Amino acid sequence: MKDEPVLEVTGLSAGYGAVLAIREISLRVGAQDVVCLLGPNGAGKTTTLRALVGLISAAAGEIRFNGRSIRGSSTERLVKQGLVMVPEGREVLATMSVQENLELGAYVRSDGEVSRDLERMFELFPVLRERRHLAAGNLSGGEQQMLAIGRALMARPQLLLLDEPSLGLAPLLVQQVFEVLGEIKRQGLPILLVEQNTRKALEIADYGFVIRNGSIVREGPAAELKHDRQLVEAYLA
Ligand SMILES: Nc1ncnc2c1ncn2[C@@H]1O[C@H](COP(=O)(O)OP(=O)(O)O)[C@@H](O)[C@H]1O
Ligand SMILES: [Mg+2]
Repeated sequence: MKDEPVLEVTGLSAGYGAVLAIREISLRVGAQDVVCLLGPNGAGKTTTLRALVGLISAAAGEIRFNGRSIRGSSTERLVKQGLVMVPEGREVLATMSVQENLELGAYVRSDGEVSRDLERMFELFPVLRERRHLAAGNLSGGEQQMLAIGRALMARPQLLLLDEPSLGLAPLLVQQVFEVLGEIKRQGLPILLVEQNTRKALEIADYGFVIRNGSIVREGPAAELKHDRQLVEAYLA
């Protein structure tokens, strides 16, 4: 990990009503790192991401983004600051066109470079250029995932949070999603990646955390976790 983390989470607890779904989570994402958060279904991965982006409030703990405390900030404000999540299940706007979905991703920005970034997205995802005028609901699952990632990139994030981008996709499309993530990584954007596909996640990640029953039970360099057969097989999607 590099010296100055882009994200530093300490003792974060959060949940639904009076029930805590995550307890005293601590994790870091280095400035150019891909960090994965692994764990079985129901472990608290989505809850962690939701608490980070202010969709649910934290019951305890500290969240620092680029050195500043962000606990209690609104989701919209965090998007403006560059903390952007691609939610589980994609959630593209089905009746709007592919291009409109991408443009919506840039709604928080006030610079004049949206059309240039749109072009960059079409370079990163050639299939979206072909389908730019189609309603997003007519895309395949894999294409919708690409669109959801592209829409998040249109906000010009400084950290990208991804919630199970490969979930429900056929193997070839899983491969394509991870290729795109590899390209994003090469461009130097840090990523916090939630995945049940442990093997693929550890291939791309620099570092990993394992969550179970709402607590971090293990962490280490991806190269180390990758060689733990028990870990890889336990959560292999
Ligand atoms: N909206 C909700 N209301 C109440 N409990 C929830 C809600 N969403 C998730 N939970 C519970 O919180 C725990 C963690 O869920 P979640 O963060 O979605 O896990 P993961 O993303 O790792 O599969 C689970 O026990 C789940 O049942
Ligand atoms: Mg989840």
